[in-house]
Amino acid sequence: MLNDRLFYCAPSRILAGNGVRRDLGPLLARLGYRHGLIVTDRFFTERSPIVTEIQAILGEQGIGTTVSAEGEPDPSVDLCVRVQEQVTAGGDLERIDHVIAIGGGSNIDLAKVLTLTLKFGGAPEDFIGEGKIPGKPLPLIAIPTTSGTGSEITAGAILIKRDSDTKVAVLANDLRPVVAVVDPELTLSCPPRVTGDAGLDALTHAVESYLTMDSEHFDRQGEADPAYSGRNHMTMLFAAESIRLCFRHLGTAYRDGADREARTGMAYASLYASLSYASAGLNAVHGLAYALAGLTHATHGSTNAVFLPYVMEELLPIRQRELAEIARMAGESGDDEAALARRAVVRTRELVAEVGIPTTLAAFGVKADDLPALVRNGLNVTRLTKAFPIQPAGEAYARIVDDAFTGRLSGGTAA
Ligand SMILES: NC(=O)c1ccc[n+]([C@@H]2O[C@H](COP(=O)([O-])OP(=O)(O)OC[C@H]3O[C@@H](n4cnc5c(N)ncnc54)[C@H](O)[C@@H]3O)[C@@H](O)[C@H]2O)c1
Repeated sequence: MLNDRLFYCAPSRILAGNGVRRDLGPLLARLGYRHGLIVTDRFFTERSPIVTEIQAILGEQGIGTTVSAEGEPDPSVDLCVRVQEQVTAGGDLERIDHVIAIGGGSNIDLAKVLTLTLKFGGAPEDFIGEGKIPGKPLPLIAIPTTSGTGSEITAGAILIKRDSDTKVAVLANDLRPVVAVVDPELTLSCPPRVTGDAGLDALTHAVESYLTMDSEHFDRQGEADPAYSGRNHMTMLFAAESIRLCFRHLGTAYRDGADREARTGMAYASLYASLSYASAGLNAVHGLAYALAGLTHATHGSTNAVFLPYVMEELLPIRQRELAEIARMAGESGDDEAALARRAVVRTRELVAEVGIPTTLAAFGVKADDLPALVRNGLNVTRLTKAFPIQPAGEAYARIVDDAFTGRLSGGTAA
């Protein structure tokens, strides 16, 4: 705390709680918006009442809407271009003064890119990287329907690019939504697979940002408005509460999606995790997960989950105290800090298994021949590699990938 160098940036308004979506109409009217582009996918237009309900809530305030339901899991650069062309051809572009994303992280990320391309023209590639946006995009209102990504808070949009081995990011603080609406009721319809994957994404955000590089050592590379700037006392407060909520509620939300307490707990867990990592930043789990997603096209949450325990294991020597704290957040007790720290790693892998995600790369279908490329492509996500608390990171990444392949943990129990 003494040496924190805090830089914190979040959406200007966060609404959270069961039913808060109904407050959105009066708020947007107050903010002066007149016509929104709703970016969603077909589940929400064909099998859920949410889009119709939001349209009605806005309609009562005289706010018009245009709907694009072209969203797909893990949006690609090509998808962004296609939707941009469709919306432009649709004839409403002149009157659209804000964008509303309804859905999981995929729809929110697609919407983020559209706030840029619909305003500034050009291709999504023009904006890939950190701080490459020319000015303020169209205002974005994000309404997440999964508990996991935190994209409603973050400065990034994650895209798949055809010629790349990893996912790529558009990153700038102005890309953060202006309003985040976290209504746990919207997650009640999530099937178990989506719940488990997203929930592990939230836990990864919380744990990874709890253990990441300190803000005093984080290299901002001269950036005056950094999206990420390392962990500090404030981000760790949010991360700790998120970790507690994940261990308490994720298993129940996965097994019984109708459990409102578990759904509400996970919605807050996801929100708090993002209020941590969206400023502290992430490192090896996400870098390696992007590489694994490039290889397998498995979901974001599952590719994070398989690496998380092994990154924690690698950090045991330098983050023992924090890992012991994580074990206590998971309900463990005892005075032996080293034993508790190893328990945190094992408990995390048990939770991964509990929500039906493979706990080794071998179980994921990865072959021994794939491992060197995974290490290389993970290290190539340099904005994440540079934040790993062990530097240089090359040998540590190789050990993590090896352990994740075989399932080796010093705390014992077979993967
Ligand atoms: N920008 C960021 O900061 C950030 C952070 C983490 C992850 N991501 C990205 O988010 C994506 C993953 O997002 P996700 O885990 O939320 O899943 P998702 O958005 O990919 O959705 C997965 C599936 O679940 C369905 N779904 C979503 N909500 C539902 C609900 N309430 N009921 C029924 N079905 C529902 C969707 O229609 C979709 O078919 C990845 O592309 C990842 O890269 C972005």
